[in-house]
Amino acid sequence: MKTILTGIRVNSEPTLGNFLGAMLPMVRLANEHSKDHHINIFIPDLHSVIAEIDGNFQKNLVNSIKIYLAAGLKVNQNVHVYRQSYVPAHSEMCWLLNCVANMGEMGRMTQFKDKSEGKSTVNVGIFDYPVLMAADILLYSANYVPVGEDQFQHLELTRNIALRFNHRFKKDILVVPEKTETQVKFMGNSEGVRIRDLSDPTKKMSKSTPGENSKIMLTDNPEKAAKKIMSATTDSLGKIQYDMFNQPGISNLLQIEALINDKPLQEVISTWQGETHYGDLKKQVASSVSTFLTHFQESIEAIPDEMVYELFETGEAYANDVADKKLLEVQKAFSLR
Ligand code: TYM
Repeated sequence: MKTILTGIRVNSEPTLGNFLGAMLPMVRLANEHSKDHHINIFIPDLHSVIAEIDGNFQKNLVNSIKIYLAAGLKVNQNVHVYRQSYVPAHSEMCWLLNCVANMGEMGRMTQFKDKSEGKSTVNVGIFDYPVLMAADILLYSANYVPVGEDQFQHLELTRNIALRFNHRFKKDILVVPEKTETQVKFMGNSEGVRIRDLSDPTKKMSKSTPGENSKIMLTDNPEKAAKKIMSATTDSLGKIQYDMFNQPGISNLLQIEALINDKPLQEVISTWQGETHYGDLKKQVASSVSTFLTHFQESIEAIPDEMVYELFETGEAYANDVADKKLLEVQKAFSLR
């Protein structure tokens, strides 16, 4: 059986960008493929400690799994939910892969450059972060890794590490995940998803951006969220077109409208193409977002914490079993066993 795997950090609550770019696509893929694929959804809590985490960490962690459930994730025996730090093989695999990755490729990671820019000191975890991500993926022989566009470079690194490892030990021990183009097609998109910052649509919507109006959190009051959409930065061209380069603000709204209503992007583009009243598009997207948030927040409220902890218990037993077996193969390749 093939494996589809994804993770989301819970340093704070997820944004609408995390949700539309990674969580919702994973739910759709899981429901479509869980009969004949393993579906691994995990919380990379070790990745979280590269930055300071607040007192709400455990609450956010449980809530993030509730988000998948409220978004309609159907759980069966092939769906595995676990926390990274409860599966010690991730840390050991990371160390072993550190000895396969090289400094040159690691130094090219744009997320490292972004996260370290302007800082006088940077912890080693930030630099090593993509190798731990490779360990997360390779321990489970994952073929598909639904993530937003910002993580594609880390996926390519994972592929390179796996190929180099297999070449070095002259054996196909690690499964190389599919190329990003194949991943994007598998997710049912024509391009990777990057939901933009509402105030500055040249950037991605991010939890770490300070501006209140730049991002929508899944816990936002629906009316407040609608106001944020109404105040989103657009452009002065005066014509609605899907063009992420010249009209990123308008294109972002079209993308949100499509994803949130589960409509093909092309259909939404055809509806709005050539219209001149930006305000009408904003009203439509604001209404979609506030309706979505109202229903979604009610669904989250109805899910008890115990349900999530039960999923962790069975998921972590499964994950330890699979990960330990792959780790042993890797340890043997290095002659450690
Ligand atoms: P993280 O926690 O930063 O983001 C979680 C997921 O959300 C996507 N995402 C977005 N997608 C579209 N538009 C946006 N504005 C946006 N912001 C975030 C991210 O691409 C990601 O898919 N390294 C990962 C977590 C991780 C992981 C893994 C993922 C650790 N190990 C193994 C997959 C497999 C990260 O920091 O994502």
